[in-house]
Amino acid sequence: MNMPATNNATAYGRLTQAFQFARKCAGDARELIKLQQIALVAGQAERELGLQFGGLKHYGRILFLTGDSEQHLPVYQSTPLLPWWRFLREANLSRGLRFIDLGSGLLKACAVARMHFKDVTGCELNPVVAARSVKVRDRLGMKDLRIMNRDFFGEDFTLNEYDVVYAYYPFYLNYEELMYRRLMGTKPGTKIILCNGNPPPNSQFRYLNATYYPRHGTFFHMYEKT
Ligand SMILES: C[S@@+](CC[C@H](N)C(=O)[O-])C[C@H]1O[C@@H](n2cnc3c(N)ncnc32)[C@H](O)[C@@H]1O
Repeated sequence: MNMPATNNATAYGRLTQAFQFARKCAGDARELIKLQQIALVAGQAERELGLQFGGLKHYGRILFLTGDSEQHLPVYQSTPLLPWWRFLREANLSRGLRFIDLGSGLLKACAVARMHFKDVTGCELNPVVAARSVKVRDRLGMKDLRIMNRDFFGEDFTLNEYDVVYAYYPFYLNYEELMYRRLMGTKPGTKIILCNGNPPPNSQFRYLNATYYPRHGTFFHMYEKT
């Protein structure tokens, strides 16, 4: 009966690898604990809203507004915390830059960004998600993190007061093109970070770098508005 031994060895190997990856991503133990706290608090909110498997359809709410149509996301997804933190640490962006997450959901990406940037804003369309994300924020003790319950495609919405604009993909149908048009409204020098998805097809965005994290099947692209 050597099966259990093999399984244990595999499980041990996987655990060791996961631990080594976590150590590489987090700068120190305090950061690792904070990431763990974000995962627990935001993860619990995702489960309670039934987002992990069900999307938001059952709330009867619009999930995506794309100007001429409404779309529902089949499955809610959120930024993987460890690769995101590692990317941010290695990107060497000044802490004083103003950061916004377009479609901030239950705040995973924003909360990690708040570990680095002093000025962080989340913009979330869905009122149920936005209200719940306020609770997530408060439980994480990040009361200065701004949350707007707004449509970032809205006509009165502008991006020119931000220095770092983040968005998690995938986006659907005509969403991507609208998103690029919206990103054109950033001021020159703005850093644009996209998680997964395609690069903006436009010469107005200078490519800076991309990092792929195979463990999570996730990559981040960074551009600069010219
Ligand atoms: C895939 S989730 C990403 C959550 C978060 N950025 C993260 O990575 O942890 C996308 C979120 O964008 C929101 N959203 C979609 N269209 C939006 C719009 N036009 N304006 C504001 N939020 C929007 C959805 O309601 C959803 O919560």
